[in-house]
Amino acid sequence: MGTPPATTAFEQRLERLDVTLFSDTSQTSEADRQSLLRVQAAVRSFRPTYRYGEIGSHLGGSLVPHLLDPACTAIVSIDPRPLSQPDERGHDFDYDDNSTAKMIAALRDSVPEASLAKLLTFDLDARDVPASPQTAGLDLVLIDGEHTDPAAFSDVVSMLPLLAQGAIIAFHDADLVIDAIRNAERMLEHLGRPFRTVLMADRVGAIGIDDGADAVERHLVPHAADREDFIRRARSHIWRSIVEAAIERGDALAPLPASAPHPELDALRARTARLDAELAALRGIEASTTWRATAPLRRIVTALRGR
Ligand SMILES: C[S@@+](CC[C@H](N)C(=O)[O-])C[C@H]1O[C@@H](n2cnc3c(N)ncnc32)[C@H](O)[C@@H]1O
Repeated sequence: MGTPPATTAFEQRLERLDVTLFSDTSQTSEADRQSLLRVQAAVRSFRPTYRYGEIGSHLGGSLVPHLLDPACTAIVSIDPRPLSQPDERGHDFDYDDNSTAKMIAALRDSVPEASLAKLLTFDLDARDVPASPQTAGLDLVLIDGEHTDPAAFSDVVSMLPLLAQGAIIAFHDADLVIDAIRNAERMLEHLGRPFRTVLMADRVGAIGIDDGADAVERHLVPHAADREDFIRRARSHIWRSIVEAAIERGDALAPLPASAPHPELDALRARTARLDAELAALRGIEASTTWRATAPLRRIVTALRGR
């Protein structure tokens, strides 16, 4: 029996979910970082070396754990670098001075220069990235670009031809693009590809395909959030954000057209009318002569009750 290979210093950090493996520039929470490190460990469980793709890299903070990982042999970073991007939360997000040059300069502060040799960047939308030996065979992809359902779903579709047979697609801000994730599941079902999805703290999703599905089952499902609860919270977060954004913009919430059918509103109106009628009838009794005539008797009864 051979001796198992010694665990490297990097692997020890990965095993203990050391969130300082990310650079501070990453737009991820501490819980997100832990979830993403679990995903990285999951891909390493079925690949001795792996190729990483990332859609939406900003200043490169989420590239760092892979640039530092000796098992990661190649990285494809895809980001068309818009100055502003739409979002499911109902308002655009600005990325001032957004450029690959700025990202590379920031990365030089966090990783050894030699590791940058494995990084290939595309200032393009994923749909325009050509399949080639440099871009294909990705074992793990993180989708963290434009946070709208159509864009995230389009990213999944664009990545499918670039994935290795057996891979994991991870999503940051999975709560914002939850419908894209559900559409991706439906598409994989339609394509007859075995897959397994998990939703994890805070806002990380992962879909393992083929071999990746087994890795997700074994390594990530034990850390999964309750799916229905995650979806419910995602919806209410999006709806609240949309209303807040509309109020902030000073948009009046448009009144509903009078002609639109509102069965619940109609039922409430009918109930209010019935209550008004009952109230009027009671007031009538109170004002009646009989009511006034029996007042002394009612006072005696009240006094007797109070004894
Ligand atoms: C939330 S940031 C990414 C954060 C990064 N992953 C991190 O952890 O630091 C979103 C990025 O998506 C990029 N982006 C916008 N539209 C995109 C698209 N269509 N495809 C890929 N990236 C896009 C923006 O330029 C921005 O850098």
